[in-house]
Amino acid sequence: MSSTHEKLSHLEKLRRKAFEGGGKERVEKQRAAGKLTARERLDLLLDEGSFEEIDMFVQHECHHFGLERKKVPGDGVVTGFGRIGGRSVAVFAQDFTVFGGSLGLAHARKICKIMDHAVRLGIPIVGLDDSGGARIQEGVDSLGGYAEIFLRNTLASGVVPQISVVMGPCAGGAVYSPAITDFVFMVEGTSYMFVTGPQVIKEVTHEQVSFEQLGGAGVHNEKSGVAHFSARTEPECLQAVRTLLSYLPPNNMSEPPAVTPQDDPHRREESLNRIIPDSPSKPYDMKDVIAAIVDRETFFEVHRGYARNIIVGFARLGGRPIGIVAQQPAVLAGCLDIDSSTKGARFIRFCDAFNIPLVTFEDVPGFLPGVAQEHGGIIRNGAKLLYAYCEATVPKLTVITRKAYGGAYDVMSSKHVRGDFNFAWPTAEVAVMGPEGAVNIVWKDEIEKAKDPKSERERLIAEYREKFASPYIAAEKGYVDAVIEPAETRSRLIRALELSKTKRERNPPRKHGNIPL
Ligand code: HXC
Repeated sequence: MSSTHEKLSHLEKLRRKAFEGGGKERVEKQRAAGKLTARERLDLLLDEGSFEEIDMFVQHECHHFGLERKKVPGDGVVTGFGRIGGRSVAVFAQDFTVFGGSLGLAHARKICKIMDHAVRLGIPIVGLDDSGGARIQEGVDSLGGYAEIFLRNTLASGVVPQISVVMGPCAGGAVYSPAITDFVFMVEGTSYMFVTGPQVIKEVTHEQVSFEQLGGAGVHNEKSGVAHFSARTEPECLQAVRTLLSYLPPNNMSEPPAVTPQDDPHRREESLNRIIPDSPSKPYDMKDVIAAIVDRETFFEVHRGYARNIIVGFARLGGRPIGIVAQQPAVLAGCLDIDSSTKGARFIRFCDAFNIPLVTFEDVPGFLPGVAQEHGGIIRNGAKLLYAYCEATVPKLTVITRKAYGGAYDVMSSKHVRGDFNFAWPTAEVAVMGPEGAVNIVWKDEIEKAKDPKSERERLIAEYREKFASPYIAAEKGYVDAVIEPAETRSRLIRALELSKTKRERNPPRKHGNIPL
């Protein structure tokens, strides 16, 4: 091989070999399972023609269990850089056709290298996970490899956005790296996440459970909360990753990407003046409120299937990305419980880390009462949400649409925890508790002694509602900045966001806080 021509064709041959992955048969098996290959996935994820691969020829150096006779260029993971919406990202895609995408030392080093690049360059990391976990033949080298990735995931947390797209049966170490990252995507019917699989569970606990029941997309999006997004197909999933990234800055030192607004910033939304039902116990859909206020068609919900009594997601206001946290009165009356508190807290901390202003829509009757909640640690878990709001220094805008009762009033981005602009609709009710509960406690004796206790109770409730269940006492004290007409909410928020652009606020220096985990 002496001529340049020969050298070029040798390179071409090596590249072709790398493109074959684990071979024709395994690629066919992958397709038969309804899955794309690692490279096909990258093609769909990235802007056309933008992928630049590195470490294509890396191979393992394991000399055990016959693995020394099986070497595949790339070692089961494709790594490199590309662009999404014209902006750079670092990517890795595990190739299940090569040793089941299992992670050995060389495979781990490739992932670590791309992560190190991402942190140094200040660009997001997107990992397409499809892996049987630690490569058994490589023993402790595989475990060490995972630990190196976990360490990098942790150190990159809050520095660059990290996104995991689970696209196959991910087991063992393959699930803990996604768990540390910011957002986890799954695909219905083909992706699974579990620490120990159905076989091991059967041996240990004698429980019979399918892959789907144990760790399918439905389970992790609705029950465990491990995953934030579920898609019907792989292309749909990868498109959703692109959409998510359109709201995020590349790193914690940059501003989130603003676009030229397509929607009138002064648009009044008359429907909001009628959206709150006259009866305080009647629900409405907070998603209608959000959709009416933000730039048209920009609301992108996160964690849609989990703890649906709270809504979190990204949107744009006047072209600028925002993070929305809102109660959903249509589910559990919008009460805060354990799951909704942790869901909200995690989202708030992400937004705060990445300079994304927070907009809170509040309609909360309080924390969910009940033995299960108390014994499950609603105190510790509710405190996470409180902590997250208190700690956040990004612009914080709040709109109280209806109920703001008790501790939940404090928690939900109140003035007292450094809310920057706190608005209330005339339908807001700000008080220590709802009229029924308050009357039963404070005027218990009067009610009991009354000639007609029932009508006395009703009279007292009406009096309490008239006096306290409004935004005006809070407004008199300056705890809300303005009582606004619902129809003008959009323009008020956009102006508040503009004013907040130059916000400068820092927490005291410290190693790190101690959020109640
Ligand atoms: C080496 C592996 C492997 C592994 C799969 N393969 N997992 N090779 N190490 N961990 C290989 C198989 O031998 C097979 O090779 C090919 O990948 C495809 O695997 P199949 O079993 O045929 O595929 P499928 O039936 O789809 O099942 C996928 C699977 C299953 C559910 C992922 O392979 C499985 O259960 N693997 C083990 C999962 C696990 O327990 N991992 C935990 C490791 S411990 P051939 O040559 O036949 O194609 C760990 C701890 C880390 O990760 C620490 C965390 C804190």
